[in-house]
Amino acid sequence: MNYQWYPGHMMKAKRMMQENMKLIDLVIELVDARIPFSSRNPDIDELGKNKSRLVLLNKADLADEACSREWIAFFKKNGFHVLEINAKTGAGIKHVNGAVKEACREKIERDRRRGIVGRPVRAMVVGIPNVGKSTFINAFAGKACTKTGNKPGVTKGKQWIRLSKELELLDTPGILWPKFDDQEVGRNLAFIGSMNDEILQKTELAIDLLTCLMINYRKELRERYGFPEEMETPLQILAYICESRKCYKKGSEIDYEKGASLFLDDFRSGRIGRISIERPEKSEGRS
Ligand code: G4P
Repeated sequence: MNYQWYPGHMMKAKRMMQENMKLIDLVIELVDARIPFSSRNPDIDELGKNKSRLVLLNKADLADEACSREWIAFFKKNGFHVLEINAKTGAGIKHVNGAVKEACREKIERDRRRGIVGRPVRAMVVGIPNVGKSTFINAFAGKACTKTGNKPGVTKGKQWIRLSKELELLDTPGILWPKFDDQEVGRNLAFIGSMNDEILQKTELAIDLLTCLMINYRKELRERYGFPEEMETPLQILAYICESRKCYKKGSEIDYEKGASLFLDDFRSGRIGRISIERPEKSEGRS
């Protein structure tokens, strides 16, 4: 299966990002806690060089806790400030302010030495589509925020959300394009639903996901679907899921496509359990 991201989108996103980078001190980068490597574009390291950096492992509620701990250690080792959060419920959000201060400590010190006092840190949220940028901005900024920037009738400019005397956030997140160096990255993004499902072959994708989960999460799969211990192949398991969930076409033929959709949906919404697809050891040296 071929996974795609259109070059037109990529160029536009990159241009926007370069423009906005000039305005900010801190990059708050959201990645998906289930696939932190595949859901980040390492070009952000080049684009955001000289900026303070904070990585947020979002959707941590869906990821394997032990893996997330490993990822936190991994990012720290590579010089990032990092937190795990659930932007949807707000879990972990209260630690973001402290992490921002920590990440910008050097900049604040530098300002002070130059006699600049009270200039707020300006930050931008970035991440690939669907990683939770808008949800995070809403949760972080809350209702208390005030918008600064544009006044009616004045030239078009950027909108900033003033979070405190010390921090302002660009109100539109930066979109990073997913990076398809290898097909595994595309496949992982497809697993979590960050790609248009319309163009994917769901049965094939479900088989790939089952193959992947059977390595570390066979127990969770069996608990959810109750297939027999001796059942071995992903196709057998998918057929079992289809039959037990009554996914049939007319004439009692198994409807694999329907069963595959059901299975993918179970995974994406965490009904099989907290599952991480990627572990940091594979990404050593690639970040
Ligand atoms: P984006 O701006 O980066 O494109 O992402 P957005 O905030 O629109 O979030 C994409 C989807 O991810 C949304 O679901 C959102 O609710 C969900 N989401 C964001 N953060 C988290 C999180 O920490 N945990 C979980 N479990 N989900 C999260 P949706 O299906 O588009 O909408 P809905 O289900 O909220 O209605």
